[in-house]
Amino acid sequence: MSSAPAPVSRVAEEFTLRIRRYDPESGKPAYWDEHTVSLEPHRSVLEGILQARNETDGSIAIRCSCRGAICGSCGVKVNGKAGLACHTHLDHAKKSAGEDGVIEIEPLGNMPVIKDLVVDMDEVHWKKIQRVTPWLIGKEPVPEREYIVDRLSMVDVTQTMACIQCGACVGDCLSLEVDPLFVGPAALAKAYRFVGDPRDAMQAERLKDLAEDPHGIYDCTHCFKCIETCPKGVAPMNQIMRLRRRAGQDHHIEDQNNGERHESAFVTLVGKYGLLAEAEVVPRSLVADSALAKFHPKAVKEIVSTLPFLTKALLRGKVTPRTALIAHKLDSKDIREVRDIYDTIHGRDERNEFNLYISGTDEDNAENVSEEAKA
Ligand code: FES
Repeated sequence: MSSAPAPVSRVAEEFTLRIRRYDPESGKPAYWDEHTVSLEPHRSVLEGILQARNETDGSIAIRCSCRGAICGSCGVKVNGKAGLACHTHLDHAKKSAGEDGVIEIEPLGNMPVIKDLVVDMDEVHWKKIQRVTPWLIGKEPVPEREYIVDRLSMVDVTQTMACIQCGACVGDCLSLEVDPLFVGPAALAKAYRFVGDPRDAMQAERLKDLAEDPHGIYDCTHCFKCIETCPKGVAPMNQIMRLRRRAGQDHHIEDQNNGERHESAFVTLVGKYGLLAEAEVVPRSLVADSALAKFHPKAVKEIVSTLPFLTKALLRGKVTPRTALIAHKLDSKDIREVRDIYDTIHGRDERNEFNLYISGTDEDNAENVSEEAKA
């Protein structure tokens, strides 16, 4: 039996907001200032900021419009995590604050600050959305009336269609911090929107383009930050992994970045040893066929080029000479268990990916969807 929701308090409480302020035109460095606001606990952080602006300091800059998690304009970091100010309750924010209970609000990361909490999303966000050709290129011949597609294929792209372009994932992306040219989680999720659409005529070209780009789908390092931060549950990293599977397994695109071979090396090693054997990852990733002998001559040049990196890792204790040279493996019983899973997955005639994003809330729909999925 489900328990009744906790009653919402209608009594105003005091919350202290610590806001990061910066005006590049002033020539002064960034600083923090504090404002105490009085609001009901279920009110949003955005309402807190607007109260501070209306009542104590009219110069605080924040971008917002709908106040209902629809327009995507109020992306900020609250207590170090990116999200929507209008979609974060003050009482929840206070719980995740530091010991002093002060809610810290700062602009999104990875983008230049225009003023206070307003960032310039042009280069890092919007230009990259444009870069993935964010529109459908319909298959020929164009039908007299509409394209007919099966319902499940549209379910698969619904998750990416939920994106409101708030830039929270971009602001917290660790790969973008290292490589500002990375196409990024929002744009790649947008790319899957069309790669996954059966009406699109350019799926293979889109995948080849994003696989060959050194800042494309293989530039993601699986940090999961975009999944944690996305306020709409788009899970951009999952969409990037879908793009990779489509590129590698469906279209057999062997990219110049060794991305497909690197993934294939991971899978092969887990099947062989039951876990990732670091000693063989690099050579297997760099040879033309990951099933070849581990030190294939083709890999020698590339392996030599990785030596400075390996030396640094050894000096910092990230790897030991033993793990660098000798593949470690699970004991035979555990290897058998992993191989059973591996064989079950690889023994399937076809890969069925089913996006569960919109199932589970409406019982009738969930039943219909699962019946269709079985068919
Ligand atoms: Fe529109 Fe927050 S104001 S999403």
